[in-house]
Amino acid sequence: MTTKTSINEGATAASVDGRYFQLAGPNHSAFEPGTFVVIHGQDSQKMLGQVDDLTFRIGSPLQGAGRVFGTISDDGRSLDTARFHPFSSARIQTADASTVGLLYDDAAATVTIGSYGSDHTPARLLARRFNRHTFWCGQSGSGKTYALGVVLEQLILHTGLPIVIFDPNADFVRLGDPPEGSDAAGTGLPADRDIRVLRSSPSEGDSLLVRFTDLPLRARGATLHLHPLEDRAEYNELMRLEETVGTLDPVKVVPRLRERGTPAADALAARVENLRVTDWTVWSGPRETAVEVVRDRPDATVLDLGGFAYPDEPLVVAMAVLEDLWARREERRPILIVIDEAHNLCSPDGDSPLQVAVREKIIQIAAEGRKFGLWLLLSTQRPSRIHPSIISQCDNLALMKMASPVDLEGIATIFGFVPAALVARSPQFRQGEALFAGGFVPAPTLVRMGNRLTREGGADISVPLRTP
Ligand SMILES: Nc1ncnc2c1ncn2[C@@H]1O[C@H](COP(=O)(O)OP(=O)(O)OP(=O)(O)O)[C@@H](O)[C@H]1O
Ligand SMILES: [Mg+2]
Repeated sequence: MTTKTSINEGATAASVDGRYFQLAGPNHSAFEPGTFVVIHGQDSQKMLGQVDDLTFRIGSPLQGAGRVFGTISDDGRSLDTARFHPFSSARIQTADASTVGLLYDDAAATVTIGSYGSDHTPARLLARRFNRHTFWCGQSGSGKTYALGVVLEQLILHTGLPIVIFDPNADFVRLGDPPEGSDAAGTGLPADRDIRVLRSSPSEGDSLLVRFTDLPLRARGATLHLHPLEDRAEYNELMRLEETVGTLDPVKVVPRLRERGTPAADALAARVENLRVTDWTVWSGPRETAVEVVRDRPDATVLDLGGFAYPDEPLVVAMAVLEDLWARREERRPILIVIDEAHNLCSPDGDSPLQVAVREKIIQIAAEGRKFGLWLLLSTQRPSRIHPSIISQCDNLALMKMASPVDLEGIATIFGFVPAALVARSPQFRQGEALFAGGFVPAPTLVRMGNRLTREGGADISVPLRTP
């Protein structure tokens, strides 16, 4: 049987600084961008590296380049990531799973999310590096939400990092249930994990609610499409609402405003009615709000945003939760803020006052939240649909299948730390395959995602077929 190692006989590498290498080999060599390699230097020193780039022309030898991670100890049981030795004409071979494992062990990558390579080596992430912002990207159906579920389950399993999920398609509302077809009583998650699911459709469990009075003045103004200067009189009426009409609750506010009889109060009452704000089911009254639930820091809080009747209601939820997390940032209590279909909240284009307010808050969290423990994970189909000031703050990347060359170019430019030849492989990815790169993985790795431990909320719907 021909092994990859024997195919790679005759390939050599050279490096002047011991950190970056060039390689050349026979054109039947089995290297690919992303292949982990062992380089045999002088005095039987062995180094672990990775191929970043390859060029290949029929009839010419294979040429490429890559990086060295460090020197393998003589007993082959550890990797010294501070020792580098220049080398020339060094033999280079595909690394086996246990040698690559040294890199993962050295980085303390402990969260298994799937496997990589033909020998199905466990692929592991560094849980501690979710203290950066993460970008999750791939075309529709590539498996982003499924893969996100796999990773979030593992974080719930292995860390104490609370997670809040903005879930527009009810994809995570079954996070507390066993997977489809499983006859186990519980999920693969320990029973003591506290998972709260707040629903936007009435009568489907705990409701997803916001208290109007909890919103800061700016957010209340945005909810009513009021600008502090362009709508001076009405905005001023809103500011003084409590002292003038004795309530801030939109449900009670209209009759009280009408009683006042001033032009500004009348105009504000008409505005509240025209926007149908009093019909929104998102208002809590005395019931528990999403902000209060998230303040208690459950292991996971799922905010099911998709079932509201009015398009501003999910924005009000996002505004309330993000404003409260930001207002309490000095408490420095870490939380992972996951936004699926992030273009709904982070688009550069939305121009309604609430869209602008939510986007500005996310831009602020992206720029300044990291040191306060406010870490974002944003998932979307197209990088161009996320505001550039948000995406440019992401240090971790999970890239699934994406066929659009323009989008891939965008990814390669924004995430300059990922070898372009690896990004360019994305159109060939199968469903459930993803390139992980950045701080949360020891080296860029093409992962075949593992299985979910809990039930998917919104798996694809099949075409109904007639039986002949
Ligand atoms: N690794 C996987 N193993 C098994 N099934 C998967 C896997 N990845 C995705 N699927 C299935 O493929 C379908 C699409 O996956 P998913 O919803 O995660 O895609 P998506 O990228 O989030 O799409 P969209 O952008 O439209 O939301 C789902 O039915 C899901 O169950
Ligand atoms: Mg999805």
